Amino acid sequence: MATTKILSLYHISLLSLIAAAAAASFSPTDHFLVNCGSSAAQTLDADHRVFAGDDPRFLASTQTLQLQSLDPPSPLYRTARAFTHPAHYVFPIRDRGVHHLVRLHFHPLRDNRCDLSEAEFHVIANGFLLLRNFRPSTAASSVVIKEFAIPVDSGELKITFLPSDKSGFAFVNAIEVITAPIDLIADVAQLVDAEKNERIHGLLRNGFETVHRVNVGGFKVTPFNDSLWRTWITDDEFFNSIEGSETVHFGGIIKYRKGGLSREVGPDNVYNTARVIRSKVSLIPKVNLTWSFQIEKGYSHMVRMHFCDIASVSTYMLYFNVYVNGNLAYENLDLSQSTDAILASPFYADFVVDGGSLAVSVGPSNMSWPRAVDAILNGIEIWKLNNTMGSFDGEVCADSVWRSWRTGHTSVVLPLIAAIFLLLSASVFLQRRRNASASTGWARLPVDVSESNLKGGNQLSSIK
Ligand SMILES: *[C@@H]1O[C@H](CO)[C@@H](O)[C@H](O)[C@H]1NC(C)=O
Ligand SMILES: *[C@@H]1O[C@H](CO)[C@@H](O)[C@H](O)[C@H]1NC(C)=O
Ligand SMILES: *[C@@H]1O[C@H](CO)[C@@H](O)[C@H](O)[C@H]1NC(C)=O
Ligand SMILES: *[C@@H]1O[C@H](CO)[C@@H](O)[C@H](O)[C@H]1NC(C)=O
Repeated sequence: MATTKILSLYHISLLSLIAAAAAASFSPTDHFLVNCGSSAAQTLDADHRVFAGDDPRFLASTQTLQLQSLDPPSPLYRTARAFTHPAHYVFPIRDRGVHHLVRLHFHPLRDNRCDLSEAEFHVIANGFLLLRNFRPSTAASSVVIKEFAIPVDSGELKITFLPSDKSGFAFVNAIEVITAPIDLIADVAQLVDAEKNERIHGLLRNGFETVHRVNVGGFKVTPFNDSLWRTWITDDEFFNSIEGSETVHFGGIIKYRKGGLSREVGPDNVYNTARVIRSKVSLIPKVNLTWSFQIEKGYSHMVRMHFCDIASVSTYMLYFNVYVNGNLAYENLDLSQSTDAILASPFYADFVVDGGSLAVSVGPSNMSWPRAVDAILNGIEIWKLNNTMGSFDGEVCADSVWRSWRTGHTSVVLPLIAAIFLLLSASVFLQRRRNASASTGWARLPVDVSESNLKGGNQLSSIK
């Protein structure tokens, strides 16, 4: 009895040692975790991370409300900060020129001063329009986490919350800002559609919004088990092949190679499970494994397929084809060659596709072997790319959302200015009657002001 206890204690400390070692391997230069609306110095979230309370150094706004409720089970969601006016969180950035992860947590908690489920607002970060007319889910128990990776060139990251006219207020429960590991996003990807399959460059100029993050053939991976604190859900709702699939679980060690991708690109728990096609007889199965997704039309998306050969008995036995929307994206993909002939070593392939419906498949190629593994997939990630206006949420840029807010809210001042101009021009008119040589330049001004005032008020709704 006593021995078991000691053993399990030993086990626990060993586990926490391993966890500590895993955490220590990635130490982002910029790392801000804020539990918004909380005045407590520290809050431990469900994944054992320490979030700081709201710090006036970061929150540059005075017209805010601190909301609190004891209902939500996670301490992170028991407080929120609400804004009736535009408010900014400004984070000093030391790691310039690289992407930063921005996670925004929303949980419409109940407070008698305002009903957060009624909130509707816009969120802007360093010129990128992240969310527009956003309404966090009205289901009181739900938590919405929006994750972006934004290129930050300047010394600060400014996140702006802008209430929409409809609701008049915005809120947020928690904010994470983390330097993205340098190997998380590559500048190149394969553009695949019916006409072409070509290498494209310049992805590092884009912002990314996470749309799907899937652990193929395995369990849900929580932030606790991911060194970048991501969540990977199971592939159940996306996998739609009836036959030919076998799930595999690998008990060995995932070999992150020097010069290969790091654990921050994908954690062990994603690479140690997969779905495979296996040939048990001398015949190679004539099947594909296919996963389907709905992604928003009008935006390019980046699809990352994660591979790790945890199923073959030896190197150079696995060759397969990869299809994106039925188009051949990779023929005879050879994971051994891609991973310096090391089994159980991870590799990924990035594809850029148009929005709409998306299907990714893997299947045997004409180099596949009988009595071997003939296709594999371990994980899938899908990101939306910002459009040419720098927006993730509509054909409108951050500037015009911001301008229309200001126009809408200076409507008391503008008519006043217009009235003054009217008075002025009236006096000019009167003077002109007295003095025939006077200029008429003033007369159009009041008209311009009222016109722009009218347009500004409708800008958002008319674009939408
Ligand atoms: C983390 O991963 C381990 C090993 O796969 C698993 O047993 C454990 O339940 C996971 N913990 C959480 C919080 O997901
Ligand atoms: C696998 O999918 C590709 C692309 O849709 C198709 O050309 C091929 O015939 C499929 N293979 C099988 C065995 O169904
Ligand atoms: C392999 O398949 C391709 C088409 O996918 C075909 O052009 C090629 O001839 C095949 N190679 C062999 C050796 O059968
Ligand atoms: C995303 O925004 C960046 C910066 O404004 C821009 O360079 C890039 O072209 C945009 N992406 C797309 C796909 O339009």
